[in-house]
Parts: sequence; structure tokens; C-alpha cells
Amino acid sequence: MEALHVNLGENSYDIKFAANFEELAASMMEIGAPKKLLIVTDTNVEKLYAEEVESLLCYAGYDAKVYAFQAGEENKNMDTVLGICGACISHKLDRKSMIVALGGGVVGDMAGFAAAIYMRGIRFVQVPTTLLSQSDSSVGGKTGIDFAGSKNILGAFHQPKLVYINVDTLKTLPPEQFVSGMGEVIKHGIIRNPDFFAFLRDNAENVKSLDTDTLIYMAKINCGIKANVVEKDEKESGLRAILNFGHTIGHAVESAYSFEKTHGACVGLGMIGASYIAFKRGLITEAQLKEIEEVLELYGFECRVKLPDNETVWNFMQKDKKKLKGKLKFVLPVAIGEVMQTTKVTKDEVFAAFEYIGL
Ligand code: GLY
Repeated sequence: MEALHVNLGENSYDIKFAANFEELAASMMEIGAPKKLLIVTDTNVEKLYAEEVESLLCYAGYDAKVYAFQAGEENKNMDTVLGICGACISHKLDRKSMIVALGGGVVGDMAGFAAAIYMRGIRFVQVPTTLLSQSDSSVGGKTGIDFAGSKNILGAFHQPKLVYINVDTLKTLPPEQFVSGMGEVIKHGIIRNPDFFAFLRDNAENVKSLDTDTLIYMAKINCGIKANVVEKDEKESGLRAILNFGHTIGHAVESAYSFEKTHGACVGLGMIGASYIAFKRGLITEAQLKEIEEVLELYGFECRVKLPDNETVWNFMQKDKKKLKGKLKFVLPVAIGEVMQTTKVTKDEVFAAFEYIGL
């Protein structure tokens, strides 16, 4: 079985890559999982995979129960986390018990947050079932909820003890969610690994047709890039912020569209905007800018959209929670595979980027 080790001292863990759930129980045994497990999922993923995962864990001798909350980002709140904690109490989870997060990013973030606070912290395992969660949110220990109109504003760093990626679950993912997840995958190539970016360019058909070997290879290289950044800067005091490439403009576009476009679609636009700023500054060539757009296009991204007026999107950008001393932080490519961080991008440069991605 393909695996990758995330080296974070006493918070280290393995990421396993598979095309089914068959080795989940054995992987749980390897990490010394206790008998009592709570599988936390949402009402969408419950219908698809909860029974299979519950029965294979119970068959292996675990006392596993499923708790499903109502699916949707609008339920990523404290009430839902308290519901999960209530289920921990009902299922008599103790300090040694574990939560298994089965689902997409909303499930992983909330199950992880519940695990971070229940009895002052219990262990948890990520079993991500969407491309966004398999490529980004399940790795790195960020957990949390939305509050007072801000996404992920409350939370905790709480690393999982295992991430078990079953790429076969991508077969049930709606196509726009697959594209959304590819935004983070392509981002990882641009920020850190030119060979991976070239692989994505040259293997788009195999990726899009969900060829198992291609997906496992992609997942492993992708998670390796993210894990390497997290290993160097677990709590985001410097380097980890490069993972926000495309997000400064992307989050504002997401808000301007009232979250009607997927996260990845907006990050794709944000990456084009940031790359355009980099091109205008002479940091990358026009050919590199076009290459970034071409790869996004290959995977079905809209590279030009009708944006609301510039001031509206700019105002949403001012609410970015990742501002540094009141200044917007930008991640700009300096090559395919390398980026720089700056707080010195001007309003004019940002408006020119809006014009570039706007119709
Ligand atoms: N998704 C960005 C990070 O994990 O830091």
C-alpha cells in the first residue's frame, strides 16, 4: 500500500493511499486505535460510505458507531460541533477513544475540532472522500468552524493520527467538486514542484477519467508537497502561508459570488489574477502565465468571469483574515514551482488583475 510519512515530531502520522476501504481497519490497528470509535460524517456521505466503513471496522473488532450531521457549509458551526460532542458522550467515548472523520472538508474540519476540544483533546483519523479534502484539508491539522460571517474563524491546530485516502470515492463526486479540488492540486504544482505541474499538464486525460494508478500517484505527490510545507511551518508563522496562493483574490471572488461558485473555481481565478500581477512585475514570463491558464483550462476551470465592479471585490478583499499588520498578503509566482510572499501589492495592480480575469 502506498504511504507517506508526515514528520511533525510527536504529532507525526502516515497518509495512506488506496482504491478501497479494505485496509482501513489494519491501518487503524497499526496506530493502536482503541476499541471505541465514533465515525463522524454528513448526511450525503452517510448514504454512500458510512455503512461500509462501520461494518468493516466492527468486523475487525471495533465498537464503531456512526454520527451524521446535516450536510452543507451553512452547518459548519458550533451547534454542529456540540452535536458531535453529544454523540461522543452518548457513545461513551473516553480520553483514549478516537473519532473517524469520514467525508469532505466540512466533516474533517468539524470532526477534527470536536476531537480537539472533547475531554481537552482526543485522537482522530481523517478519511477524506472529496478531492478538496484529499488534496488539502485532511493534511496539516487545521480544524474549525465558520462564525459571525467569517470562514474558519474559530478552530484549533489538531493533527490527525492517520489520513486514509481512498481515491475510489472520487467516482461519486459531482464534476464541479472534482474541478474545485483540482484547484488545490494545481496550486501545489505551481508553488513548489515544476515536475508535478508538468505531470498534471501531460496527464489530464488520465486524471479526468479517474484512472486509479494516476489518481494514487497524483494524491501521493500532491500530499507530499503539502506535508513538506506543513513539516517546515506547522502553525503558519511563515512558509505555510504560500499555500494561500490564489486565495487572496479567490476568497474575495467567492464572497462576491455569495459562495455560488466552488472554492476551487475561485482559487483558480485568484491564481490567474496573482500570476498576472507577477507577469506585470516581470517575475514570470507571459509564456508561464499562459501555461498556468492552459493547465487550469485543461481541467475545466473558467479562466474569465463576469466580476461585480472592482470596488465591490476589493472591499471583500479587505475582510481577508490573513492580513498582516492591516496589509493584504499576496503570494506571487516567480517561476513554475516557486513563489514569493509580499504585502506590497497596490490597489492598481489588483484592479488590473480584476480586469484581466473579468469579462
Ligand atoms: N489550506 C491551507 C493550509 O492548510 O494551510
